[in-house]
Amino acid sequence: MCGIVAVTGYKKALPLLINGLEKLEYRGYDSAGIAIINPDTNFISCNKAEGKLQNLKNNLNDHNLPGTVGIGHTRWATHGKPDFKNAHPHTDSSGNIAVVQNGIIENFQDLKNKLEEEGIIFNSDTDTEVIPHLIQRELNTLSKLNLENNGSTLLVAVRNVLSDLEGSYALAVLWSGAPNSLVVARRQAPLIIGLGEGEFICASDTPAIANFTNIILPMEDEEIALLTPLGIEIYDSNNERQYRNPVSLKVSEQIMDKMNFKHYMLKEIFDQPQTAKNWLENYLIKNSDNGQYQINYPFDTEFFKSIERIEIIACGTSKHAAMVGSFLLEQFSGIPTNVFYASEFRYSPPPLLPNTLTIGVTQSGETADTIAAIDMEIKRRSSIENEKFKPNLIAITNRKESSIGRQVLNIIDICAGIEVGVAATKTFFAQLLSFYGLAIKFAQIKGNQSSDEIGKLINELIKLPPLLEDLLDKHNKSSEKLAHDFFNIKDVIFLGRGINYPIALEGALKLKEISYIHAAGYPAGEMKHGPIALLDKKVPVISIASPGEVFDKVISNAQEAKARDSYLIGIAPECNGTEIFDYLMKVPSSNEWISPLLNILPLQLLSYHIAAHRGLDVDQPRNLAKSVTVE
Ligand code: G6P
Repeated sequence: MCGIVAVTGYKKALPLLINGLEKLEYRGYDSAGIAIINPDTNFISCNKAEGKLQNLKNNLNDHNLPGTVGIGHTRWATHGKPDFKNAHPHTDSSGNIAVVQNGIIENFQDLKNKLEEEGIIFNSDTDTEVIPHLIQRELNTLSKLNLENNGSTLLVAVRNVLSDLEGSYALAVLWSGAPNSLVVARRQAPLIIGLGEGEFICASDTPAIANFTNIILPMEDEEIALLTPLGIEIYDSNNERQYRNPVSLKVSEQIMDKMNFKHYMLKEIFDQPQTAKNWLENYLIKNSDNGQYQINYPFDTEFFKSIERIEIIACGTSKHAAMVGSFLLEQFSGIPTNVFYASEFRYSPPPLLPNTLTIGVTQSGETADTIAAIDMEIKRRSSIENEKFKPNLIAITNRKESSIGRQVLNIIDICAGIEVGVAATKTFFAQLLSFYGLAIKFAQIKGNQSSDEIGKLINELIKLPPLLEDLLDKHNKSSEKLAHDFFNIKDVIFLGRGINYPIALEGALKLKEISYIHAAGYPAGEMKHGPIALLDKKVPVISIASPGEVFDKVISNAQEAKARDSYLIGIAPECNGTEIFDYLMKVPSSNEWISPLLNILPLQLLSYHIAAHRGLDVDQPRNLAKSVTVE
């Protein structure tokens, strides 16, 4: 993980780097650092601080760094503790080369052992530190060929070193021998170059460059580039020079504004009615001939006709959205569907079956496990010479310009706008909507569901935005009050069944992510097979009870918890049966299919208020990062 930023041009680098790092802090906040070339001496000046970027900013307050070429890093620790010595940038022994890196160098220990045998002394426990030492060694070798000290020489040195690295990385390199140049490279980790006028800024993600330019060049996998104020040279892994047109950033890829909310997470919870409106506008189209609604996904009908089964690959919150999706695709549209953790799928994929659609779900489009699992699936399917086994792919993502956007042709863009809070809220909601769209599309094409039922589901979706607004209005204050009573609890159990079982999982995940309270979600019927042993009056149970197929069963399971003295919180409409709850977080009555879209909001609010009440850093919870670009 981690975020990197690098700049070369005519403006002072420091404010550009700090501004970029502020926008990348969601990727990790264990430490931060910058390196800038002094224009008078060509020395590299490095500044680092443990902890959040603010610590680095405080350190830099009295520093006047006039240089225009620099690199910066915000870290999520993988190799080595989150302390000062492991903070990037890392340098070679002479301090003439500085490197920031996001990724994991898998063979770093072998490389480090060899370098140590050669007498190199390491100052950190990171995998990254091998890189500046290797570049230094390569530059020494190149100097014997009488190459000039310039960016092209640095490019050759870095390229030679990259061929020895295993793993994934996005990196940026400074060398005092070529004081106007930067070399950047990527393999399976994101990197984007922003084009200014005579200035270039390179970063792990678009918000870091949005204040600077809205014209970007995304780098492709395995590319390396030399950046100077005069221009950019990009080369692929065969050392072929690459030429391509830049693209413009969408406005939604640039805006990061907390408005008047205390935290981004709360703002993003409140964005959800608009997320629903956007989805309806973008993807629900009324056919003027027959008055019927169609889902406007950008793939033709033939694509869906041949599909007999679906496999969905995702991590974290995206996996929970995929589980709701799987329920809809099987129970509503009649297509057998399986959901896999990407990290498991990579090493134990199911046997290949014909006519399978593979769906990758990732809001960031960069999660390493998801990208690698999809890649593996593309490769193993492409190696079979039988049309029925060919890869059929869809990606559901909030970042269509991301790695998954380049890997998969058929994209459902969830159009949620940038999500800054590390705990996913509105992107989860938008992923859910994307699955409703897919389920409707499959049901229409396969004819496994009556048009009446399809029409009802669509009508419920259309009615969503005001219901969501109302829900947020009603529950914001009441969940703040509930949080006041519960902020000190140690364990919480979340129960749900059927389509709401994944919502119980997601409710539990939200609570533990941001409040550090132990929480676990279970299918309500499973409670009696183990979790019930945990229950007593100190363990509240949050039960999602939506009227429909399993309502009575969920209420019975809640009774079992009540009999063990647990305080019962219900997420349900007010109706017969819900008197059992000690506290009812009322949601509007709805068709059961649609209930996850309503039930998740009070759960998000409750988690938010509990964490806020505990005085925790809601937007940047400890040990987490928004986009996990390492395995
Ligand atoms: C990280 C984040 C989670 C997220 C997961 C998958 O663990 O902290 O909030 O759900 O990655 O992210 P993705 O971008 O693939 O949806």
